[in-house]
Amino acid sequence: MPMICLSDFEAYAKKHLSKTTWDFFAAGADECCTRDENLLAYKRIRFRPRILRDMSVMDTRTTLLGTEISFPVGIAPTGFHRLAWPDGEKSTARAAEAMNTCYITSTFSTCTVEEIAAVAPNGFRWFQLYIHCNRALSERLVRRVEAAGFQGLVLTADLPYTGKRRDDIRNNFHSQPTEAFGEKRRRWQPRQEVPEDTDPSINWNDIYWLQSLTRLPIILKGILTKEDADLAVRHGVQGIIVSNHGGRQLDGGPATIDALIEIVDTVQDRVEVYLDGGIRTGSDVLKALALGAKCVFLGRPALWGLTYKGEEGLRKVLQILHDEFRLSMALAGKNFLLFD
Ligand code: FNR
Repeated sequence: MPMICLSDFEAYAKKHLSKTTWDFFAAGADECCTRDENLLAYKRIRFRPRILRDMSVMDTRTTLLGTEISFPVGIAPTGFHRLAWPDGEKSTARAAEAMNTCYITSTFSTCTVEEIAAVAPNGFRWFQLYIHCNRALSERLVRRVEAAGFQGLVLTADLPYTGKRRDDIRNNFHSQPTEAFGEKRRRWQPRQEVPEDTDPSINWNDIYWLQSLTRLPIILKGILTKEDADLAVRHGVQGIIVSNHGGRQLDGGPATIDALIEIVDTVQDRVEVYLDGGIRTGSDVLKALALGAKCVFLGRPALWGLTYKGEEGLRKVLQILHDEFRLSMALAGKNFLLFD
């Protein structure tokens, strides 16, 4: 089967993953309105393309908080990569390193941060933190993340509780021993000593708490309104990820590409603004950038790539998106991201 676009990887994953795992990756909250809206919203946006602008020299490079990446697409944090591929997050880290982009490693990874850092020592990585009820555990994790050379901390702020994902409940996902890759007796446990026990009391003061623990830049993930974007800036974060968790938390919120506009307008370049949710083509990436995002991140498509062929599969997903993005830039009349 020739793999031409990201939906080819989606079809492959749907066919080859167990139903329980496919459902977990695909899940949205409740009626999945927000999950689906994330994709639909892109179809309503149209370019104003410019012509005759000499596209013989082009450059897709950009920077994230000063670090150069090859194109403005990184890997969003998603848990449990060993459900998709035996090597799990190790393959993800290698693919991101090879493609010279940023990999945000999830708290719910199925490899340790040390293992991940060891297999891709030159990779550019941020670590996504869920704050645990036992703060000492989170503190220890932050220390390990720093020691392992991660370059930023992404605090996910939209999960005081996990959204209601109907298929996961029907499949009893969280209490099922996984059948993947021969480890039948063990339930998939996150490997960072932080079980799924996030602290529902987290609030704006916890940004100060995190700042007191670490000198790493803090990026806040899960912002959907200009009010919270302004609060984030005023609390001293270095970046914002406009995200609705792929529609897995509050159903009925906006598509992220729609929320982006008021946030970019409010932030006014005080911090970098990124986005995730529903990115499936290179023209989606260009639309997000045209509306003010510095970079976008891929959730489910990265999991589909891993399912297809581990590191190689994820590289292929990123390469396809890179090529589509570059072509969209050319056809819309945009040569560079960094220099104009
Ligand atoms: C997620 N997401 C997520 N976010 C986070 O901050 N920590 C996590 O551990 C996870 N885990 C996770 C698992 C799975 C299976 C999915 C699909 C998503 C949300 C993720 O970072 C991102 O916000 C969305 O996935 C982006 O939407 P798309 O690209 O999947 O449409």
